Amino acid sequence: MDDKVKSETLMRNRFAKDVVDGLSNDQKTLPCKYFYDTEGSRLFEEICLLDEYYITRAELSLIDAIKSDIAERIGKDATIIEPGAGAGIKIQKLLNALDTPNTYIPIDISQDFLDYSESKINEQFPRLDVQPIQADFTAPIDFEEAEATNNRVVFFPGSTIGNFSPAQATELLSNLAELASKDGSVIVGFDLKKPVKKIEAAYNDAKGVTAQFNKNILVRINRELDADIDIDSFEHEAIFNEQESRIEMHLKSKKSQTIEIENQTFKFGKSETIHTENSYKYSNDAFKSLAENAGLTSLASWTDRDSLVSMHYLKSMK
Ligand code: TRP
Repeated sequence: MDDKVKSETLMRNRFAKDVVDGLSNDQKTLPCKYFYDTEGSRLFEEICLLDEYYITRAELSLIDAIKSDIAERIGKDATIIEPGAGAGIKIQKLLNALDTPNTYIPIDISQDFLDYSESKINEQFPRLDVQPIQADFTAPIDFEEAEATNNRVVFFPGSTIGNFSPAQATELLSNLAELASKDGSVIVGFDLKKPVKKIEAAYNDAKGVTAQFNKNILVRINRELDADIDIDSFEHEAIFNEQESRIEMHLKSKKSQTIEIENQTFKFGKSETIHTENSYKYSNDAFKSLAENAGLTSLASWTDRDSLVSMHYLKSMK
């Protein structure tokens, strides 16, 4: 087998195992990283433009307001590492503000996104060395290139940190601190705690794009694992869990049914759900102590003018 076929088989088997494991739990789950295939990534871009989804807009305007302040803190010749880089719009704002940045290392699970961002960044910043890495950033990353460079900055906007439980988030932040290495910096953007109505609307848009995004994971199971799930028998649900300070995304079965995946059957009662995603909302203080536990000291933080989102500039102690 050639390497490409080998890695595709590996990825398929990994996906199959994760799906089967998730659906075998009492509260059925599916890992959210599988949202982002080509179609899922496209749908997510569409979510970012929705009226109800305030996070992207608020963060973009926040970055505009603070980029020169951040650039001053970062200084010259930085290596910018961006886990989960996506389409790379936020990074362009930052790169524009920086004094002669050296290297940009986007890391993404989607090769499509990486190709797109590489060509766009190359075009706009011809003197910048772009070194994309196709990887799942939740797993340890093999990182020789950046090893040798100084002034490393890990850029992690988009409230992606909110998609991890506090324990996982601590571990992830601690990996990012290590990636930045001692005295390197980590910049994290997250969604602030706010009235429930506003949050629930952001994950329950009127056009149903978020519903389609959530259901895309079932479409993917059908296609990649040869399953035959009736997509319309599930509905999107997003409910704020006050106790855990998180919005939960579920796929709710409209009827009792049995589905078959990889020769295993999974029974659903009517209204039983698959829990697909969480998005935790933090106060600035709660985030600070999370970061502290991960070996990161918050040196500065900013919020947009409507106090919707927050961005912290952190120093690595690792
Ligand atoms: N990081 C984004 C967030 O938590 C991801 C996201 C937005 C998302 N909308 C979603 C994930 C809907 C799953 C379903 O806000």
